[in-house]
Parts: sequence; C-alpha cells; structure tokens
Amino acid sequence: MKKLLFLAAAVALFISCGQQEQKSEMDTFIGDLMSEMTIEEKIGQLNLITPGGGIPTGSVVSTDVEEKIKTGRVGGIFGIYGPEKLRQAQKMAVEESRLGIPMIFGADVIHGYKTTFPIPLGLSATWDMELIEKSAQVAAKEATADGIFWNFSPMVDIARDPRWGRVAEGAGEDPYLGSRVAEAMVRGYQQDDLTRENTMMATVKHMALYGASEAGRDYNTVDMSRMRMFNEYLPPYKAGVEAGAGCVMSSFNDVDGVPASGNKWLLTDLLREKWGFDGFVVSDYTSINEMIAHGLGDLQAVSALALKAGLDMDMVGEGFLTTLEKSLEEGKVTEADIDLACRRILEAKYKLGLFDDPYLYFDDARPDRDILTDENRQFARKAAAESFVLLKNARLPGQENQTLPLEKSGTVALVGPLADSQNNMLGTWAPTGEHSLAVKVIDGFKNVVGEEVEILYAKGANIVDEPEYAEKINVFGPKVEIDERSPEEMIREALTVSARADVIVAVVGEASEMSGESGNRTNLDVPENQKKLIRALAETGKPLVLVTMSGRPLTLEEENELADAILQVWHPGVEAGNAIAGVLFGETIPSGKLTATFPRNVGQVPIYYAHRFTGRPQESDEFQKFKTNYLDVENSPLFPFGYGLSYTQFEYGNVTLSNSEIALDDELEISVDVTNTGDFDGEEIVQLYVRDVVATVTRPVKELKGFKKVFFAKGETKTVTFTLKAEDLGFYHPDMSFYAEPGDFIAFVGGNSNTENSVEFVLTE
Ligand code: BGC
Repeated sequence: MKKLLFLAAAVALFISCGQQEQKSEMDTFIGDLMSEMTIEEKIGQLNLITPGGGIPTGSVVSTDVEEKIKTGRVGGIFGIYGPEKLRQAQKMAVEESRLGIPMIFGADVIHGYKTTFPIPLGLSATWDMELIEKSAQVAAKEATADGIFWNFSPMVDIARDPRWGRVAEGAGEDPYLGSRVAEAMVRGYQQDDLTRENTMMATVKHMALYGASEAGRDYNTVDMSRMRMFNEYLPPYKAGVEAGAGCVMSSFNDVDGVPASGNKWLLTDLLREKWGFDGFVVSDYTSINEMIAHGLGDLQAVSALALKAGLDMDMVGEGFLTTLEKSLEEGKVTEADIDLACRRILEAKYKLGLFDDPYLYFDDARPDRDILTDENRQFARKAAAESFVLLKNARLPGQENQTLPLEKSGTVALVGPLADSQNNMLGTWAPTGEHSLAVKVIDGFKNVVGEEVEILYAKGANIVDEPEYAEKINVFGPKVEIDERSPEEMIREALTVSARADVIVAVVGEASEMSGESGNRTNLDVPENQKKLIRALAETGKPLVLVTMSGRPLTLEEENELADAILQVWHPGVEAGNAIAGVLFGETIPSGKLTATFPRNVGQVPIYYAHRFTGRPQESDEFQKFKTNYLDVENSPLFPFGYGLSYTQFEYGNVTLSNSEIALDDELEISVDVTNTGDFDGEEIVQLYVRDVVATVTRPVKELKGFKKVFFAKGETKTVTFTLKAEDLGFYHPDMSFYAEPGDFIAFVGGNSNTENSVEFVLTE
C-alpha cells in the first residue's frame, strides 16, 4: 500500500513537473513574441470582431475586416463557419500580418452544432450528466469539423424568473444541479485537451448573475446581497472555472452597482484571485460600449475601466481598439495592463495549439465525415426523449390504463400550431442548426406509427393571432405563420377531425423565439387563441393529450384541468418529431424532471423550491390571515422543481442513515429503497435534499445535495445510497466565510423537491 502511495505521489510530481515545464515553455514563447509586438499589435489581439452573417445580437457588425486582419488589429472572429472560409481568414492573419499571429475562431454552439439537441433547459431536465457531457462532446466534434474551436457556451446563469427569455439557455434554478451541468459541459467541450482537433475551448457565461435581471426583463439591473450571490447564484460559474474552462464572458448587467464588464471586484478579485481562473475574459456583445448607456462615462473611459477591471477581449465594440492607445498616452491605463490582457489571449492560442498549427481545424474532409452522422442524430433523439417531462397522466374514466402511452392502433387526431411546424423544433439560439433537417411532429408520428395508426391532422390555431406579435417573434425568420382562415374556422376543422379520432394529441405552446435573448414575456400562459382550441378539444370528451413546447416554464393551470395528459417537451432539437412520437407511443418511457418550478400564475414569480424560511410560514395551502401567502392563489407552484412522472410508478421506503451523527471532517451515507411498482421498466431520478434546521442566518427550507438517475426493471427494488460530506453542509456567511454550522439537519429523499420522506441527523463539533 505504502509503495502504491509513493508511486502515486511520484507520478503526480512528474505530471506537475511536466506541467511546470510546459508552462515555462509557453511563458518563454509568448514573452519572446510579445517583445516583438508594437503596442498597436498588442491592442489588436484584444479585438474580437464579427463580419455578420450569424445572429448579430447588437446593433453593430464589424467593418473593414480584411484590412484589420492584415494590419494585426484582430485577435479573433466569430460568426463565420466552414473550413474553407476560415482557412482563408486565418491565412490572411498568418501570412499577411507582420507577425503572423493566428486568430481564434468562435461561435455560439449552445445546444449542438448541426445536430441540434434540446434547448439547454430541456437538456438539464434529463439530470443525466453523462448525456449532457456527451452532447457537448458531439457539439465540439461537429463545430471543430467546421473550423470553430472556441465556444460561447455553457451559459450557467441561475434563473428563477421564467419571464426572462434566456431561462431557455441555462440549467434552471438550482445552484447544485447548475454546477454539475456546468462541469459536464466544460468537460464535454474541452475533454481536458484543447490541442486536439475535435475539442473546443469553453466559455462560462455570463459572469455574473445575469439570470437575476429585475422583472425578468433582459439586460435589466441586478442587485442582491453577497450572501445570496455566493450561495445561490455564483456556484455554477465557479464550478465551470474549476472544471478548467478556458474563457469566461462578462455579462450585460450590473453587479452591486458596477456593470459586470467594468467590475474589478468580479473579474479580478473574485474570478482570478479567489477562484484561480487563469484563462481570458471576453466581453459580451458590445457590453463595454454599453457602459456608456449605464452612465459610466464615454467610450474611452469605459474601455479603460473594462481593461483595468480584468476584461481581456472586446467583443465587437472596438472600444479597446479605438481608445486604449490614447488612454495609455494619458496615463489612464498602463502598458502592463495591455500586456496582461494580450498575454492571456496569446496563452489561449498557445493552449489551443495554434502556434504549432494554425490550420489544425480546417480539414475539408471533416464536415462530411463528422457532422450530422446517423450516430449523432440517434443520440439527439435519445437526448430529446430523456428531456421530456410528463406533467400529468390521468387514468381515463372507466378504464384501467392511464392516458399515456398511446395504443399503436386506431385513429389519432394530431392538432395544434406546432404539430406541423418545422421552424420551431430547434429552439432558440441554434444559429448553426438547419430547420430543414428537423423532424416535425407529424412526420415523427408517421415514422414511428405510420403503419399502425391512422393520423388525422388539423392546425387548429395559430401560435399567436396578432400580426404585430408575430412580427416580433419572426426576427430570425418565419416562426409564426398566421393562417388565412379565421380562428373559428380553424377550430371547427380541428373538431371535425377530432370527431373521427379515438384520442386527440394537441401540440401547443411557444414559438422558439418566444424565449431566448430578448424573448421576455410578462404573461406565461399558452397564448389565448391556443387556449380556445384546447377548451374546444376538451369539450369533445375524447382523451386529450397536450404536448407543450416552450423555452420556459409556462403557467398551465387551466390546461392541467382540461387535459388528460401533458408532456412538456421544451424545444426538442433536430429529432423532435421522432422523439415525441417515440415517447407518446411508449417506445421510450419518460424520465425527465423539472429543473425550474412551474408557477400557477405569473404573480407567484419569482418562485423556486429553495426559498428561505420566513417568520410567518404557512403550514398548509389554506389561506391564513397574517401568514406569508396570497389572497388569490396558494403558495405552492403547479409543478415543483424536480417533478416529473413516468409511465411506471415508484415507491420510496424510509430514509436510513449510516450514522445519526456526522463529525465536521466526516461523511454520512443516506439510503432509501425504491421500488418500481408499475407496469413498465423505467428510470427514476432519486433526489437528496437537506435542511439546516438551526443556523445563525436564515437558510433555505431545502437544498438539493445529490441526485441519481437509476434504472428499475418492472417490480424491481434497489437501495439507492448517497454519500454526504460534512463540507456539503457548508455555506457562505455574511462575512463571506464558508463553513458548516454544527447542529440539527434533516435529509429528505424522494422523487421531487416536495418530498417529506426524511430523517434527522446531527452535525457534531
Ligand atoms: C449574447 C451572448 C453571445 C453573444 C455572441 C450576446 O448577445 O448575450 O450570449 O455569446 O451575443 O453571439
């Protein structure tokens, strides 16, 4: 044993010596290079441009691109794709600029490259970290085949306000789950080796707290206590950094009164000094310039502020390019400030292997070989099916069976504005995906049960009826097409079709651009015209299945009353239709669980399971005067965090402990027997929550501390065990110290955050 330990220590020393050596080689190389660079060339490295053609999310696109590249005034480019184009651009930098420094090529590869996966909120609902990591790995393989080796993903912003459109792009409301997803994505993209031709550099974004924009309005002010920041919002960024992300992107919002892109406390004191981040920081799209509108000064002032704060690369705004020299002359920044940023960008290029081979990622044979392979599509289908959350599955009156899965026989009326839509399947932020490749729901039905089931179709309703609303949703191409027929006529057709069917499946919800950046809503209902369709369908008395598509939690109270079953499918990606049909007809048993609370109405927002105790808690859902509650709606959400049904059922036994006490340096095993009591094999996501009963500050009623996705054959019982370390009970205190407070705790284990299945234990001194 001793020998083994010695060997392990020797290997570790060898590796760390190796790393040291590599680092000093890199330092020397970059030092030599920088000694030849003029100040203009150094500033040029800090400039990130986009020539357009992607999705410009600001008002500016870059001009005079070629000339800037040749004169060494561009460090990187994003938003152009394909080995041929990128090779040409790289050649310009390498062969025509004075020092031949290669450029870095980035893109937003948010949920898959061409093989589009479910939107990130959907992917997180799989709670399957291996699957999420693999989705990032597949995305990296496809993107690098197309010449992109720097990704503006993962977005790890905690979001507890579904009005905010970008809730679609993250992993939901929980810091523990969000951190695991952040790590999985970074690992998937980078595979611990950036020099490989099929890995890409990850960017953890948006640092920080972007998901907490007031009132769910994008780009709005954020203001919160340090304690909340550290315990609830910052953990996923930290986890992404610790997983080795090469880059961090600053956010649009302010943090503690200072916009993130000019916030030294955030970008240097915390990110680099406390967390040890050694990559580079890129701004968000013109976020340096936007500090002018925030009221922090003119372009020269805000650019100097950003550089001094620790921001290294300026996305599109060219504040660095056009003002830093002047600031240097005037003593507002130093050459050392510029050198530091330049060095970090050159280091990233070094780590990516660009100084060895600037053309590594431009292999013309790769796109055909690596992109959209059958294997990738099959995997996208699996990922989509696993992301679906079964919200309701009632037993039909007078029948043994639940509504789902559907029989592979008889006649189905497939209705709703998203049943025959192709442009909404990929979801928001899929600029590299192709709508024409997406499988529509109706085609998925034909593929999966076309032989056995008669499928009747009617659109039934538009996504929205109002042309002005449709126009706003259609900025990136047609997502909403308003039918020439009147709403009444469309509903009539849907009813005629339904009259001939055994069951109705209505695919309803949001167009893809009703969420995503600048896709905020104050009303989270299914649009009223679609609700009219749903009411009319419910009145037929036929079994009614709703397939709800959305980029966020919707308010589905009425739908929950009217429908017999509801399957939440987010925007499922390129294999949408096949995955949906596969789950509805029982080829895959749903296993997804919500990662964001579904409110009853928008007035409950922000609503999240890990809220803190108040001094006047309400014990039941009944209204009680002078307790914390509302006159017009109960406190509980419609569907809590962690919730999701299966076609089979799971029963939980009592929670047991390896010990009822745990010391400060110790760990505890928490176990529960889970039995599959239903009629299908299936997977269950078993969740561990902990409550800190007494502390020196108010604590959440429950916090997720572990989860396991476990397969159970029909009838099978398994013991599921979690290991909880005493340090997992720690939290940040008002003075920012992190420690666990000895005392009483409760561990809960169950199938969602509402579980009361629990056991008490004590953390001893
Ligand atoms: C978004 C970022 C994105 C960037 C570049 C911005 O508007 O906030 O998430 O990476 O555009 O496309």
